[in-house]
Amino acid sequence: MMDNKSPLRRYFEQFRFVFLTIFLFYMSMILLDYYSVIKENGFSLKPFKTNGANHHDVDNNNNTPITPSIPSLNFTQNNSTTNGVEFNSTEEKQMIPPPPPLIRDNNVNVDELIVTPNSNNKAPPIRNSDPCYGQYIYVHKLPSRFNDDLLKRCRSLLHWGDMCPYLTNLGLGPKIIENAKVLLKDTWYQTNQFSLEVIFHNIMKHYKCLTNDSALASAIFVPYYAGLNVGQYLWGYDDRIRDEAPLALVEWLSNQKEWKRMWGRDHFLIGGRTAYDFRRKSGDFGDWGTKLMFLPEARNMSMLTIETDSYDNDFPIPYPTYFHPSKDLQVSLWQKRMRRMKRPYLFTFAGAPRPNAPYSIRNELIRQCLSSRSCKLLSCYKGKNNKNTCEDPVSIMSVFQRSIFCLEPSGDSYTRRSTFDAILAGCIPVFFHPKSAYEQYRWHLPKDYLSYSVFIPEGDVRENKAIINDTLARISRTRISKMREEVIRLIPRVTYREPRSRLGKIEDAFDIAVKGIIRRVEEIKKEISSSTDNVYYSNE
Ligand SMILES: *[C@@H]1O[C@H](CO)[C@@H](O)[C@H](O)[C@H]1NC(C)=O
Ligand SMILES: *[C@@H]1O[C@H](CO)[C@@H](O)[C@H](O)[C@H]1NC(C)=O
Ligand SMILES: *[C@@H]1O[C@H](CO)[C@@H](O)[C@H](O)[C@H]1NC(C)=O
Ligand SMILES: *[C@@H]1O[C@H](CO)[C@@H](O)[C@H](O)[C@H]1NC(C)=O
Ligand SMILES: *[C@@H]1O[C@H](CO)[C@@H](O)[C@H](O)[C@H]1NC(C)=O
Ligand SMILES: *[C@@H]1O[C@H](CO)[C@@H](O)[C@H](O)[C@H]1NC(C)=O
Ligand SMILES: *[C@@H]1O[C@H](CO)[C@@H](O)[C@H](O)[C@H]1NC(C)=O
Repeated sequence: MMDNKSPLRRYFEQFRFVFLTIFLFYMSMILLDYYSVIKENGFSLKPFKTNGANHHDVDNNNNTPITPSIPSLNFTQNNSTTNGVEFNSTEEKQMIPPPPPLIRDNNVNVDELIVTPNSNNKAPPIRNSDPCYGQYIYVHKLPSRFNDDLLKRCRSLLHWGDMCPYLTNLGLGPKIIENAKVLLKDTWYQTNQFSLEVIFHNIMKHYKCLTNDSALASAIFVPYYAGLNVGQYLWGYDDRIRDEAPLALVEWLSNQKEWKRMWGRDHFLIGGRTAYDFRRKSGDFGDWGTKLMFLPEARNMSMLTIETDSYDNDFPIPYPTYFHPSKDLQVSLWQKRMRRMKRPYLFTFAGAPRPNAPYSIRNELIRQCLSSRSCKLLSCYKGKNNKNTCEDPVSIMSVFQRSIFCLEPSGDSYTRRSTFDAILAGCIPVFFHPKSAYEQYRWHLPKDYLSYSVFIPEGDVRENKAIINDTLARISRTRISKMREEVIRLIPRVTYREPRSRLGKIEDAFDIAVKGIIRRVEEIKKEISSSTDNVYYSNE
């Protein structure tokens, strides 16, 4: 029977086979293009890009340059929801300049290269032969009173406790010993949220493109522990004491030769507290914090903080979490594990009520959680043994890992560290205020905020218009798995690596922050050189 086919028919079948293969190939190319458009734009369906040349870049983990349309959510719906605070979702901040040159483009494994720029040789770096071109950072050698001496006084750094244990392991805190049921071995630490300055500085000490030649540097890092410094004086000290170190710092900086090059506009610092702690306005907050960032010199510098209130030289970056991997593999193992978790709780709230803040929605969230069978409440009261479960990474992570959604309302300020613990656990964050994340972490989190989170306006909760359990239960399973996948993809972006390690392909929160700063300095340079009087920019 097989051999009965006529040669013509066999020829025809072969032809059909070839035709089908080509057809399928073209269909899949078209679908791929379509898919990348969807990925880029959330669910707003746009026609195919006619310029197909672009689609390799689209899904390149690089969220900042993408301009998605923001679907469905309407912040202007009701004024009360934003608490009188304006949120202009169409407003483009100057914060998202184009990315810096990517050194990974030329297939050099930068992590293997030991960079020793010769400071005697002032020849400018050549773009292609130098993998660090455009990425050099010069770290100021500050007098020890601005950093190391603070660590020695760790007992008096916190008003409410002892910071010393948290400053061990290069600022990561004590290693967590656990039977690997909840966490991965060897990558988890009891990290304090105020340690970011120390962690960041220690990662910087191992940054791949450090230089001792400040003329070569794209940006200049000022390793002052601004938050630890002010933390000592927040309660019961006068302004003169609080501002003593900030004033001495800017005096020191402005007397260095690096200052004159751009009047400090290529300098950056990090503050592991909210920006309000460095911008004392008399009266407003009862004279809170220092006036560091209001000093004329500091106005020329950029500051990385964990939360800001829209100053154009503040760039919020994620709070530190407990996870500090040293290898790419540890990150992907953790991501794999979070994908497979069984999540019996629809939602979780880990936090304390704010009984003295009637405007806070926390009390209402706690009430709703307690009356929902699908909610798990992790109460942040100190128990009998004075142990606060909310400060125990194992109990937090074990609950977040088993929850689909994690509620992240504002607390004493708009943002919370818990947001990043939730992302780390693959738990989809639910925000109630745009300043809790969307208006903050523009470098680290996708612009299309509905791709990784749920937004329920604070006002709706306050006015009993939003029933949390109903709202969340109505979200489809497909949408949940898409969001969760996105959250899990974000894990490395909100993680600070073990300071002495270098990751391979993965970019962590530190890498993204440094890239952001370098881009910003590039922008400033362009601005200066394009202005008619470029007297300020001299290379000497
Ligand atoms: C947003 O809400 C306002 C007030 O309800 C309405 O006028 C406006 O059309 C809405 N915009 C969108 C894009 O839905
Ligand atoms: C906004 O909230 C107020 C206060 O509850 C309510 O009366 C009003 O109808 C809401 N407006 C819109 C446009 O939803
Ligand atoms: C929103 O606030 C503005 C001014 O604060 C007011 O004029 C307007 O009526 C408010 N709109 C709603 C829907 O409440
Ligand atoms: C919001 O953005 C629009 C368009 O960019 C602009 O016209 C408007 O002035 C902005 N509003 C605020 C309050 O910034
Ligand atoms: C900078 O100089 C110090 C000693 O002066 C040296 O230990 C360090 O390795 C140098 N760093 C680079 C990146 O050359
Ligand atoms: C800040 O930078 C400007 C130029 O952009 C310069 O004129 C000014 O003197 C600088 N301020 C300080 C305190 O150096
Ligand atoms: C949902 O929450 C409401 C309000 O808190 C509560 O009355 C109701 O019992 C909850 N429903 C379920 C199924 O848990």
